Amino acid sequence: MRRPHLRSLLPAGVVALAAVGGLAFSLTAGAVGRSTSVQTAADSLTPPPIHYVTHFTTGQVKEGEVLFEANCSTCHGTRAEGSAVAPDLQGLGPATVDFWVSTGRMPLADSSAQATDIAAFVASLAPTAPSYPDGIPYVNTKDANLQLGMRLFVLNCAACHTITGAGDALADGAYAPSLHRATSTQVAEAIRTGPGNMPVFGPGTLSNRQVADIVAYVTGVIQHPDDRGGLGLGGIGPVAEGFVALLFGVGGLMVVAFWLGERA
Ligand code: HEC
Ligand code: HEC
Repeated sequence: MRRPHLRSLLPAGVVALAAVGGLAFSLTAGAVGRSTSVQTAADSLTPPPIHYVTHFTTGQVKEGEVLFEANCSTCHGTRAEGSAVAPDLQGLGPATVDFWVSTGRMPLADSSAQATDIAAFVASLAPTAPSYPDGIPYVNTKDANLQLGMRLFVLNCAACHTITGAGDALADGAYAPSLHRATSTQVAEAIRTGPGNMPVFGPGTLSNRQVADIVAYVTGVIQHPDDRGGLGLGGIGPVAEGFVALLFGVGGLMVVAFWLGERA
């Protein structure tokens, strides 16, 4: 008689365990959410998390035109209108052009200053399409929240770039590159413009503050893994607690699955 009795108690216990895990998880999530809104309230006093540079000097545009003519026009056309071998660049906005040139995806002798000038020239040819940022993003990581950045990175980026940012092969021969060299501007540009097979994360998906948190996590913790000291996860606190809670929740579900499997 004892065994069936225990068994009928097990599911209730498991559900309780999962519920406690879930509750703890949402509580820690709530705590993190609250600290965000405190930060938002202070926004008016602190510099914005991302400053988009949308205006360029005529000197930059002129310099960019010369560079574009010499390095890009054979494929993209003199007015960046595109050709049989390369796409139309008009309307893609300065951040897209700056990203492709400054990361070395498009051939150019050197220097991100040249990339900015070329971006300025291409941006002067046509208004930026609404789905692209109309400026080059400069990120203020000083006020960023590394714990939120880590959580957002795990949710939005790690599936392709891996949890350590080392990069990984994707389906269809695509490759998500290592994040160990990208500058803060390049990380923000990648997020906002979605190069190649990477999805675009627009302002409706990730706010500027959330982008700044992710950028701080990538250029801080991921690019300098030795700085974080101690446990591999870094930033102990709400994030680590959240993981533990999640582990309990998922663990509970697994026990349910085992139990059901055994019954059947
Ligand atoms: C040898 C030909 C060639 C040259 C030279 C070249 N490009 Fe490209 N460019 C391409 C091709 C092909 C693609 C599409 C590649 C892809 O989608 O992976 C591309 C893509 C791009 C994109 C991304 C377009 C999009 O839709 O996201 C940008 C921006 C760009 N090029 C800018 C430049 C700039 C600026 C230069 C000069 C510094 C340059 N390219 C030089 C061939 C070229
Ligand atoms: C669906 C897979 C996928 C996701 C999700 C994804 N990326 Fe990417 N990412 C890519 C691919 C693919 C490329 C290379 C694009 C190309 O060059 O054609 C890339 C390129 C990049 C680069 C350029 C690195 C360099 O130095 O060249 C950065 C930075 C980057 N991603 C950051 C992020 C961040 C931050 C997130 C999360 C907000 C993210 N990515 C989410 C697939 C992904």
